Amino acid sequence: MGSWQAAVVTTVGDEDVPSPLDAVVWPRRTARLSLRRVKPADAEQLWHYRRLEEVTRWVTRRPHDRAELEEWLAAGLRDQLVVEHGGRIVGDLMVRVEDAWAQREVVAQARGVQAELGWTLDPAVGGRGFMSEAVGEVLRMCFEDLGLRRVTANAFAVNEASCRLAERVGMRREVHAVRDSLHRDLGWLDGVGYALLAEEWAARTRPAG
Ligand SMILES: CC(C)(COP(=O)(O)OP(=O)(O)OC[C@H]1O[C@@H](n2cnc3c(N)ncnc32)[C@H](O)[C@@H]1OP(=O)(O)O)[C@@H](O)C(=O)NCCC(=O)NCCS
Repeated sequence: MGSWQAAVVTTVGDEDVPSPLDAVVWPRRTARLSLRRVKPADAEQLWHYRRLEEVTRWVTRRPHDRAELEEWLAAGLRDQLVVEHGGRIVGDLMVRVEDAWAQREVVAQARGVQAELGWTLDPAVGGRGFMSEAVGEVLRMCFEDLGLRRVTANAFAVNEASCRLAERVGMRREVHAVRDSLHRDLGWLDGVGYALLAEEWAARTRPAG
């Protein structure tokens, strides 16, 4: 449910262990965008949209002030990307590589095999397909560069823009949990989970014929 979330997941290593994203060549470019790792100095641009109610309504954390955002940024450097258009930050993405659930004897085979995504766009540039384009590139990176087997994303079911985005980039809705997720204003809401497997990605991107 967006970046900077305090998710209960087993992540690969700790802050002092290299991030799987270190192995990727940055920036990554698409037709209109450039994607790169976040850096502390990005706080100023991120604050412009990360403080807006229409954004914080759906994401895990609402920063009280810019200093708090800077703290989160410092703690989340290993799995955060920013999306730039025309040299300006227009969005950010979490790519959190994590372990899959596994039985004890095969736990080593399940380490770092999947990633959870979270996405946030400056509403000033919404409705132009920027985040779909950025997430498409992140999926390519996850499967083709990092060799992951599964990519997931979670949202409140009522967050229709986010659900449409997941579906637009080809993710499959595979979970609908009833009133499992507590919203700070709206109470217990349904949560939805999306996923895409490497073989599904390959089938979609394989040239026809
Ligand atoms: C979720 C969120 C990123 C979606 O933003 P978005 O602007 O709808 O996404 P995109 O940038 O991919 O744009 C897609 C929209 O532009 C339209 N569009 C226009 N040109 C397009 C193009 N070239 N390619 C794709 N879509 C295009 C699409 O039809 C779509 O509109 P629709 O959903 O009304 O049909 C945004 O609402 C957001 O940041 N919300 C707050 C934070 C949040 O909820 N994060 C997720 C928590 S789970």
